[in-house]
Amino acid sequence: MDEYAGFAYYYDLYYSDVTTDNPFYLEIIRQVGVDPHILELACGTGRLLIPLVEAGYRVTGLDLSDEMLERAHNKLTALPVQAQARTRLLKGDMRYPRTVLGSEKFEIVILGFNTFQHMYDDEDQIACLENARDMLSTQGVFVLAMDNSTPDEEPANKLTELYGVMHDPERQSTVTLMVSTTDFPHHQIRTRRYMYYERLPGGNNDLVCNTTLKLRYFYADELKNLLEKVGFKIVESYGSYYFEEYAAESPRIIYICQKAEPEQA
Ligand SMILES: C[S@@+](CC[C@H](N)C(=O)[O-])C[C@H]1O[C@@H](n2cnc3c(N)ncnc32)[C@H](O)[C@@H]1O
Repeated sequence: MDEYAGFAYYYDLYYSDVTTDNPFYLEIIRQVGVDPHILELACGTGRLLIPLVEAGYRVTGLDLSDEMLERAHNKLTALPVQAQARTRLLKGDMRYPRTVLGSEKFEIVILGFNTFQHMYDDEDQIACLENARDMLSTQGVFVLAMDNSTPDEEPANKLTELYGVMHDPERQSTVTLMVSTTDFPHHQIRTRRYMYYERLPGGNNDLVCNTTLKLRYFYADELKNLLEKVGFKIVESYGSYYFEEYAAESPRIIYICQKAEPEQA
């Protein structure tokens, strides 16, 4: 099911300017060296993927949503042909990526921006992580990043917040994003209802997008256990995109992993 259907345009309006994690990934990639082929799982509209391509890397992006991929594709076609030539955008499910990618291997696999939180049950979590591990080259690196925010301490039931007021240059309108959050702490689930209101010049505020996303929250230790269970070793863990050490109050949980056992020749 494409949870982002009808949401891609508005997702980009709010998130395309969010670049806080870009320098982090560029530094991790630089450290890996060796002209890496990068796979971004759930690349969405290319918020991260496009800057990686622009930095000169070979990147494959996989996503389940036609609408999100279409926006990524439109951004890609605005880049020079050499950049387009080293980029692939593929429709596929990160739980079963081999359907599209066969036995391909990558030096870097990225699953960032809270997207693993779309893996709601154990089966999906394991399938996704096992495939991420199997798609790594021998010394390949997997980066898993998400917010460090577990709902059971501060249940945010029906908390509605103003996320932002944006100018939509395409429609010359003002768009206001309100987000209503509901926690289900016993299931480690949080739902976020994204309500975008548009005001055209001289007009009223109209609700133009109303999408609810479900997120499965993880504890850092829980995630570490999952990663180790599927055959990763954690080589670094960070609590922010500024390479700060992870602590319980850190804003992010970021694990840099490699295969625990190198492959048999
Ligand atoms: C929060 S967005 C992140 C997009 C992008 N990685 C970024 O950093 O902006 C989550 C993305 O995950 C995709 N997605 C959700 N479940 C998926 C799945 N099972 N397989 C592939 N993509 C999936 C959605 O279509 C959406 O584009």
